[in-house]
Amino acid sequence: MLKKLSIAALAALSFSAGGALAAGGAGHIHDTQFSFEGPFGKFDQNQLQRGLQVYTEVCSACHGLRYVPLRTLADEGGPHLPEDQVRAYSAQFDIYDAELDEDRARTPTDHFPMSGIAEAPDLSLMAKGRAGFHGPYGTGINQLFKGMGGPEYIVSLLDGYTGKEKEEAGTTFYENTAFPGGWIAMAPPLYGEDVDYADGHSNSLHHEAEDVAAFLMWAAEPKMMARKQAGFVGVLFLSILTVLLYLTNKKLWAPIKGKKLDI
Ligand code: HEC
Repeated sequence: MLKKLSIAALAALSFSAGGALAAGGAGHIHDTQFSFEGPFGKFDQNQLQRGLQVYTEVCSACHGLRYVPLRTLADEGGPHLPEDQVRAYSAQFDIYDAELDEDRARTPTDHFPMSGIAEAPDLSLMAKGRAGFHGPYGTGINQLFKGMGGPEYIVSLLDGYTGKEKEEAGTTFYENTAFPGGWIAMAPPLYGEDVDYADGHSNSLHHEAEDVAAFLMWAAEPKMMARKQAGFVGVLFLSILTVLLYLTNKKLWAPIKGKKLDI
């Protein structure tokens, strides 16, 4: 009886939370399967390279990645570009050098440039800065099952444009089903077939959005794989320790327990 009651209460809670969210104008986020989900998930190197291409050719016109060092593009577990390509990639962006008192080409030790226009937020931490899924009343149940959903939010945002526009105080807003409030000041950056992939992967709107979202997840958390691995080793170590402690405990108590049995 108690169980039934609590399930009914939970259901009621989630219904009312859904209602509250709808009233507050939270956007609709659809779940996307990414290669890096789950305890053994890994970044897909080809996908990160494609995402870098979308970011470079489209998003970087307005957005920056000021906290991401260019040299990390060569990292294993990341896009893993060859060193000479990272040098060539870096050199396309200029930076003001205070020592030389003039502009020079960037090198892999510099960071990506900052946003070109003030209204466009920096994307370095965006994939972690947005939650895609919200649990009923902050219980985090949705997040437990679906993940935080930062990259899912980005995918939903990029293909969530309805095509409607409106102008308010001199700014054009575009209707978007994922953006909280429903109207965003970013014109649709992707339409599909915006870039040509060298690996022949589909460049439909949805695929481009997925690739750039995966790339931004890597930018926000480049060490995700190392972290998962460390966690896995930790759990393994604790499991072995548990078995050993159990056996030790058994052995230590054996004489005493044995005596009791004898009486
Ligand atoms: C023409 C300039 C421009 C381009 C190109 C552009 N953006 Fe934006 N973007 C903006 C502006 C301006 C905002 C702020 C919109 C707002 O807050 O209403 C924004 C906001 C965002 C946000 C934050 C939304 C939020 O929840 O606050 C994300 C994520 C984003 N852009 C991703 C991208 C990606 C990915 C690309 C490349 C595929 C891209 N943008 C290309 C101008 C641009």
